[in-house]
Amino acid sequence: MSNAMWGGRFADAPDAVLEAINASIDFDRRFYAQDIRGSKAHVAMLAAAGIVSKDDADAIEKGLDEVLAEIEAGTFTFSRTLEDIHMNVESRLAQYAGDAAGRLHTARSRNDQVATDFKLFVRDALDALNVSLLGLQSALVEKATTHAGAVMPGFTHLQSAQPVTFGHHLMAYVEMIGRDRGRLVDARRRLNECPLGAAALAGTSFPIDRTMTAKALGFDRPTANSLDSVADRDFALETLSMAAICAGHLSRFAEEIVLWSTPQFGFIRLSDRFSTGSSIMPQKRNPDAAELVRGKSGRVTGALVGLLTVMKGLPLAYSKDMQEDKEGLFDALDTLDLCVAATTGMVEDMTPDLAAMRRAAGAGYATATDLADWLVRVVGMPFREAHHVTGRIVGIASERKVPLERLPLDAMQEVEPRITAQAFEVLGVTKSVRSRTSYGGTAPRNVRAQAARWRRRLKRDRAALEGRAAPAPV
Ligand code: ARG
Repeated sequence: MSNAMWGGRFADAPDAVLEAINASIDFDRRFYAQDIRGSKAHVAMLAAAGIVSKDDADAIEKGLDEVLAEIEAGTFTFSRTLEDIHMNVESRLAQYAGDAAGRLHTARSRNDQVATDFKLFVRDALDALNVSLLGLQSALVEKATTHAGAVMPGFTHLQSAQPVTFGHHLMAYVEMIGRDRGRLVDARRRLNECPLGAAALAGTSFPIDRTMTAKALGFDRPTANSLDSVADRDFALETLSMAAICAGHLSRFAEEIVLWSTPQFGFIRLSDRFSTGSSIMPQKRNPDAAELVRGKSGRVTGALVGLLTVMKGLPLAYSKDMQEDKEGLFDALDTLDLCVAATTGMVEDMTPDLAAMRRAAGAGYATATDLADWLVRVVGMPFREAHHVTGRIVGIASERKVPLERLPLDAMQEVEPRITAQAFEVLGVTKSVRSRTSYGGTAPRNVRAQAARWRRRLKRDRAALEGRAAPAPV
């Protein structure tokens, strides 16, 4: 038997392997709610434009509600023979709405339908992700506020560089996630044009009202070019780019959690709720969640590269290759969701060992720059010369195996006679961080001000997001 939806000119049924490679129902069923929402908007427009009768439209709308209820109740039988979510829904609709069902597909095609459904799905997912990223930022801001003045080593090249505060370090991630959310909002804004009514590729001869369907579905406007409408997957690529960058940020943070929780660093401790044991080494507390957040970023980047590769050689307009846009994106968004939740959990859970951080901050001559700056400020030396002098002093301290502040003044004066006891005031790590008051610097009062600024902003953002419709179930 040929396909009931498109089999008019076909005598034979498809080969089993064609059915296997062709069917997308196993994954595109995930946007059934968006598919039905799109169909309801379409049929309401068809009726308003006089393209279908009011009675037929009513029967279709009612039938679509019944299909929706059936899917949500878990009693719907999805069929691979019917290929995808669009034809599964339409075929079932015929059983509820009778002959009227056959009029739903007037002036549209699966090409504009799938583009519309997928956009609606991605838009819902972006809104939900925005909320969870905001939650992660809040957790970081709270931790950062508590530890705005906790001194820890700052690193470059993973070598002790200059003391910073733990709060300052956490706030760096608030900025990063803030940019991710910016990219998310930006992608959402550009996505928000409705492809429905572009039909297969050329538009339609029916007097449809594309602005009406666009508005009904919460889009800002209809897309302006019918070919582009069905050929475009930029919205999926932009979403995946944002997701890959964000997953990369979470992965960097995860790497730091892994390092910080080693006995060698000992900067933080994760509680039993976020640590796993080893089946052979009883002493171990492994940060598996952090390792997996680091590891899973690979899948998200993989999905981006996968779709970029699928799209790059496709002639306009639609090609079936584009059906490959879905699984990677679903997986990437699910993965990112889980990673955001795990990271938020770890931030809330972690307890810093403030003494260990402070000890480490003082090691490795991390206040050498402060001494060089003192020579510039008080003695009036050019910075390059001060750098050289300080380097020699660090060399002597290192030979004697003492920290800078314990090197006797006369040893310093042998290198530079203009150094006075006053210089010792800048060599402590607390003094060092307190002095970094330049905008964006690590001084605790800067950190507190930045945390307060973000707290206000997050509150505003949350209120704005809550005003938006809740995401559709998946
Ligand atoms: N399942 C298809 C997809 O995901 C829907 C569009 C099919 N269009 C077509 N002309 N066969 O891309």
